[in-house]
Amino acid sequence: METRIIAAEDENMKEAVAAASELLAQGEVVAVPTETVYGLGADATNAAAVAKIFEIKERPAFDPLIVHIASVKDLDQVATVPDDIDKVFQKLISAFWPGPLTIVLPKVASIPDLVTSGLDTVAVRQSGNRVFRGIGRGFGKPIAAPSANRFGRISPTSATAVMKELGGRIPLIIDGGACRDGLESTIIRIEPGEKRPILHLLRPGPVTKKELQNFGRVVVERKRLIDEQPDVPGQLASHYAPRTPLYLFDKPADFRPEKGKRYGLMSHKGDPKAGYVGAHDWAVVESLSPGSGKLPEAAVRLFHVLRTLDEAGLDAIVAEPVTDTGLGQAIMDRLRRAAVNR
Ligand code: TXA
Ligand code: MG
Repeated sequence: METRIIAAEDENMKEAVAAASELLAQGEVVAVPTETVYGLGADATNAAAVAKIFEIKERPAFDPLIVHIASVKDLDQVATVPDDIDKVFQKLISAFWPGPLTIVLPKVASIPDLVTSGLDTVAVRQSGNRVFRGIGRGFGKPIAAPSANRFGRISPTSATAVMKELGGRIPLIIDGGACRDGLESTIIRIEPGEKRPILHLLRPGPVTKKELQNFGRVVVERKRLIDEQPDVPGQLASHYAPRTPLYLFDKPADFRPEKGKRYGLMSHKGDPKAGYVGAHDWAVVESLSPGSGKLPEAAVRLFHVLRTLDEAGLDAIVAEPVTDTGLGQAIMDRLRRAAVNR
């Protein structure tokens, strides 16, 4: 299959939206930009279309998808909001929607079981990406979309990265440029709680724990996502994994290079004083935040840099840890899951 790319710039925004909506209406899948990562979208109400997502991604059927709505008034096509969490739910969506927050809610019957892997809950979000919203409105129905990578691999944050992951397997990629946040959405489940609502943090992401604490007591789940439950059948690929083994150490001295091997460093700021840069004669050094030295830049660049190092023909990649606070928690979550020694 030939994979077409349409750039959704101002002059051909209409063409891009029309082409994507048309394919979705025909029960096809399309790769689309969001503010977090690129998604592989299909009509969330069409089980046959959703089945294509699983097939193309080689994703196990026990791993449920996120459903995206174009407008809050479309929520009732996907989920219900129980009365006892309605107040906090409304506060959360007025603070974070449209945006990178996904909320797990009871599902309605018209969402096929395949979308939720048979669960009675569904993960919902409203993306703030202009192109994605245009497609959602043009199509007029909720869109099921996981990240547009093959299962267990690095999420794509550009149309080029989608092409590398799924080129030849899908008819169309809508190129909306680089993703603003670069990390997948934060996922929560809401529980009423006695005094304050309880927000179960299932996946850390661009909306941080600290931001969520304004709305309730945040409980970080250890067994967070369905695809991390040890009791699910089958062998799970590790997440966000590059093909090249990636190591994460607490300090530079823990790294013991083997003779004759080529190692690449994923540095945080590229700062020689930080210890990692000077710790070894690296074949390649890539920095996550070469400009600002700050975490948002590191988040935006993480998957891109991981991909670049993966393509550099190295024996192994060493990742320098970032501070485990704020956005750093989401970055460290992805690094730990990519690492072979964690
Ligand atoms: O930023 C994002 O969330 C991107 C863009 C495309 O929206 N999507 C994304 O989807 O990251 P995906 O499929 O790669 O990750 C969704 C995660 C999976 O780990 C899945 O197990 C979990 O959400 N999930 C989906 N439905 C769930 C549910 N009902 N309860 C708990 N976890 C759920
Ligand atoms: Mg994913």
